[in-house]
Amino acid sequence: MTTTPIHNALELRLIEHIAQYGPITFEAFMDAALYDEQHGYYPSRRRHPGSTPVGTDGDYFTSPSSHPAFGALLALQLEEMWRNLGTPDEFTVVEMGAGDGVLQSDITEYVKRELPEFAKAMSYVATDLSPSAGADSVSDNSALPIGITGCVISNEMLDAHPVNRFVIQNGEVREIFVDYRDGEFVESLGDLSEPEIAGRVDPFLGSLPEFYRGEVNLRLGYWADSVAATLERGYVMTIDYGYERPELYKPTRADGSLRCYYQHTLGQNPLSRIGKQDITAHVDFTAVDHMLMVMGIQRIGKPSQQEFLSNVGIDGFLSEVNDRATTGNISGTEVQEDLAGIGSLIDPEGLGRFRVAVHSRAAVDDGERLRSLTGVVGGVPLTRGHNAPTLNDSAADHARLLRASNPFVSSTQPQPGEMPTWEQMFSDEP
Ligand SMILES: C[S@@+](CC[C@H](N)C(=O)[O-])C[C@H]1O[C@@H](n2cnc3c(N)ncnc32)[C@H](O)[C@@H]1O
Repeated sequence: MTTTPIHNALELRLIEHIAQYGPITFEAFMDAALYDEQHGYYPSRRRHPGSTPVGTDGDYFTSPSSHPAFGALLALQLEEMWRNLGTPDEFTVVEMGAGDGVLQSDITEYVKRELPEFAKAMSYVATDLSPSAGADSVSDNSALPIGITGCVISNEMLDAHPVNRFVIQNGEVREIFVDYRDGEFVESLGDLSEPEIAGRVDPFLGSLPEFYRGEVNLRLGYWADSVAATLERGYVMTIDYGYERPELYKPTRADGSLRCYYQHTLGQNPLSRIGKQDITAHVDFTAVDHMLMVMGIQRIGKPSQQEFLSNVGIDGFLSEVNDRATTGNISGTEVQEDLAGIGSLIDPEGLGRFRVAVHSRAAVDDGERLRSLTGVVGGVPLTRGHNAPTLNDSAADHARLLRASNPFVSSTQPQPGEMPTWEQMFSDEP
């Protein structure tokens, strides 16, 4: 006896569309699965205040959700950017893909507390394609300002862009579409929907094996356009996981970099749990450079998050939190939680592997001045003379990694509902 599959409203719409027009690009499928206003993953996860895709009750952790030290260290870097620009009266931070607004809260709180001169100049605009119902300070993309002096910042936004998928077949690049057959969503192959896909992959055809699969993010160009419209003078700080293109399209990464996250469980089938799970793909940082370069925005550097935060002075924060334990100002458990949270930001197998791509758009008389940034080139740590924020002092909610069961200790394959290790989450061979 065959059973009729039960589909949700989003699936029914996709099925109807496919029946009428034929298979859809993976990019169109991922766009619907993540961002459909009614049933997409982000809008439905964020419709109710308190419900969030990020953090202990969500599907994955991000750096801002792990500890307020992340926002504090970025705040110190932003203050140096402001000084490099000659301490203008107005320095605007524009955060794209701000989600729940945790990073915004941590940065503005730390600037107010520790950097009073900078606080007089800094304003913060947080936007998202799909803002949280509970985060009043995060607006939709229509609030993006134009022509600012300051910094455009994003954390894990580019990896959430819908991507096209391809496979190498008979030595050629073919596109992977989404079709619906015999009661289920399935992959189907076809000619490329956009020549740009071949433009990115063709140079690697000689080294890639048959049936190699990968992704191309064609939306980076739109992102770069909006960055260029927003930023007149200053910096772009783009934090995400990914590689330069030769590393991204490497024969050993034969299944590509597409990943799904559902209740801290890692998966690789984006055609299941449609609208219920997150889908991401590694960022092509070569494309990021190219797209920004044509807009007159040049790369300054791309250290790992571990290098960047170490240059800014995360060790100073770690030893200060340790010292507080000996002075008895804070309980041993709190210290452990703070150390786990701060440490997770530079874990070489986890968030520390992310990249902090920094670009600048200079005015004629800025010369080389903008290039000297402590996070990128090192020097005297910016944390010197400043206090570390703690989980208990922070206005925003953060994950309590120790309470959530420490993702660093387990090295076995996670069971459904159990958290994977950072290594499993970001490894190329899940
Ligand atoms: C993985 S979440 C990261 C959220 C937050 N930055 C953090 O680190 O916790 C990705 C976010 O990017 C947003 N996003 C994706 N594409 C976007 C776009 N084109 N413009 C603005 N936000 C976008 C999503 O809505 C989502 O909130």
